[in-house]
Amino acid sequence: MDVIEVIRAKRDGGELTPEQIDWVIGAYTRGEIAEEQMAALAMAIFLKGMKRGEVSRWTEAMLASGERLDFSDLARPTTDKHSTGGVGDKITLPLTPTVAACGAAVPQLSGRGLGHTGGTLDKLESVPGWRASLSTQEMRRVLVDTGGVICAAGSGLAPADRKLYALRDVTGTVESIPLIAASIMSKKLAEGTGSLVLDVKVGSGAFMKDVASARELARTMVDIGNDHGVRTVALLTDMEAPLGRQVGNALEVAEAVEVLSGGGPVDVVELTVALARQMLTAAGLVPGEDGVKDPAEALRDGSALESWKNLIRAQGGDPNAPLPEAAERRVVLAPASGVVTRLDAYQVGLAAWRLGAGRARKEDAVSFGAGVTLHAKPGEKVTAGEPLFTLHADEAERFDRAVQALEGAFDIGDKEGWKARPLVIDRVS
Ligand code: URA
Repeated sequence: MDVIEVIRAKRDGGELTPEQIDWVIGAYTRGEIAEEQMAALAMAIFLKGMKRGEVSRWTEAMLASGERLDFSDLARPTTDKHSTGGVGDKITLPLTPTVAACGAAVPQLSGRGLGHTGGTLDKLESVPGWRASLSTQEMRRVLVDTGGVICAAGSGLAPADRKLYALRDVTGTVESIPLIAASIMSKKLAEGTGSLVLDVKVGSGAFMKDVASARELARTMVDIGNDHGVRTVALLTDMEAPLGRQVGNALEVAEAVEVLSGGGPVDVVELTVALARQMLTAAGLVPGEDGVKDPAEALRDGSALESWKNLIRAQGGDPNAPLPEAAERRVVLAPASGVVTRLDAYQVGLAAWRLGAGRARKEDAVSFGAGVTLHAKPGEKVTAGEPLFTLHADEAERFDRAVQALEGAFDIGDKEGWKARPLVIDRVS
């Protein structure tokens, strides 16, 4: 086959054949297609799109580039959640132990943060002793013993995606619905879950800025999952404002523990419970019936918290150890009195990133204690001169740039200027 022919076919709006797709992914993974040629093809796909059959085959080819885990012999049904990424999105932390406490097993391969969105592994690594890298055998043992495991994807899973994602990141081809769908789903199918719930974020802090694109991404991924025998549903959820009141690694772990202890911000609780119910249902367990505990009850009765402690200990962490704190703090005061009518997730994420919570390059280290505490969320009252944000950083020099990111990030007005937004916008199945 000739790669230039494949590039030309897509450039001119044609449909790639299954043979072309299998060959391109295989040859690229083996290093037989030059990066610039794959970049040209990715851009052609970005501009011309792919048909349902093409996306499905592209996903399969990436899946076939590596190993596929199998947990179908476990006593519990397996289920997982994947979020397309947001600001303050710590939901995996309370969700995994909650679903485990209700009777399903959650094999969760997670990533690290890049850019303004945080990564689950960075958050969990702020727990002293906790280890993200597990062998497949260790992963299975933790899953059997505790009902959940959250770890880094080994290099053997969907290696084609690993290579292609790095290329897309530097060629302006990340925000393509077929490429995002195939990238996420190849990894999720490789992880061996029996069912999957996708949390597709919509709004300023998300990849998808409008509901129509988010719905299209959700539809594409749900179809791929179901076509491959993994029962898949998606919730479209709001990411116009950050989730919860804490943005930053250890800050978010502390907030997740509050939720697991029966408290915490209402939006984090609502989304945890909504996603947990979807996961249990997708796994064939009906919450609140046949002895299956409802997730809201697991948060209230301490069983989810117990499950969190087991999960953390099983990966070497100490759930009772104090979490790291940043060396410096700066408080930003509200410039006016009124109601917060807008709080931009992207800009808060950018501020947290500038404070050291995120990384600019894959090899950078994150600061565990860095981040932003939100003293008021949209719809809440503030008084001029009272704290609006607390910034946390290890170096005081970081504060000015973070404050700049927050300058246009919020509006304060009167109650009439604020309209509540539903957290769960739609469900796609
Ligand atoms: N997350 C992924 O894993 N892949 C993408 O393409 C985008 C977000």
